[in-house]
Amino acid sequence: MNTSKEKELAALASINYVKNGMVVGLGTGSTSEFMIRALGKRVAEGLSIVGVPSSERTKELATECGIPLKELAEVEKIDVTIDGADEFDPYLRLIKGGGGALLIEKIVAYNSDMNIIIADSGKKVERLGAFKLPVEVVQFAGVKIQKELEEMGLSPKLRLKNGKPFVTDEKNHILDIDISHKRNLSTLEITLKNIPGVVETGLFLETTDLVIMGQGETVVIIE
Ligand code: A5P
Repeated sequence: MNTSKEKELAALASINYVKNGMVVGLGTGSTSEFMIRALGKRVAEGLSIVGVPSSERTKELATECGIPLKELAEVEKIDVTIDGADEFDPYLRLIKGGGGALLIEKIVAYNSDMNIIIADSGKKVERLGAFKLPVEVVQFAGVKIQKELEEMGLSPKLRLKNGKPFVTDEKNHILDIDISHKRNLSTLEITLKNIPGVVETGLFLETTDLVIMGQGETVVIIE
């Protein structure tokens, strides 16, 4: 399996959903990078769109690619968001946040009329949870939340980068937790969000309209 090729195929197929005049939510990660570059080419050819980026990295790349950008507050609504995922299940529920941009990605998805996920075939799972679920936490509360999640049997690990705690665009930390034994994800989401200091989780349970998955030399659309 050529993962990079599959990501690119999914990304290229996704931009067919972008029409002139649309406000487009721009995802984060390596699959989204293919999509942003392709969209940049279409803009250079005359496509008129406005992008709402989901991270600082995406903002930089989209600017390089010549895509006009706006803040979420400046647009009435987002017509379509295209983003990657770390896992998706048969119900199009997702784990996201492997790249650490889950908070803004979730806000962008929530404010979008349509959400398209682009992925390589390795992201498809029968049950979410082989990938550790990212939970974004306020730094002040991080140690206490880690202890609480430990007691809940979720084996939290503070995400590190170059030996230091990883810091998100919003200056928070991330705890990666093991949810492989959890059956009721809606309840888990509510439980986690009820802990003061938990800002967001990478569980995207109800936002996705369709997944475009690269598989070998082709793309598969899952609705
Ligand atoms: C970023 O925070 C994530 O949600 C990404 O969308 C996810 O990790 C997918 O990344 P890749 O496209 O690099 O696999």
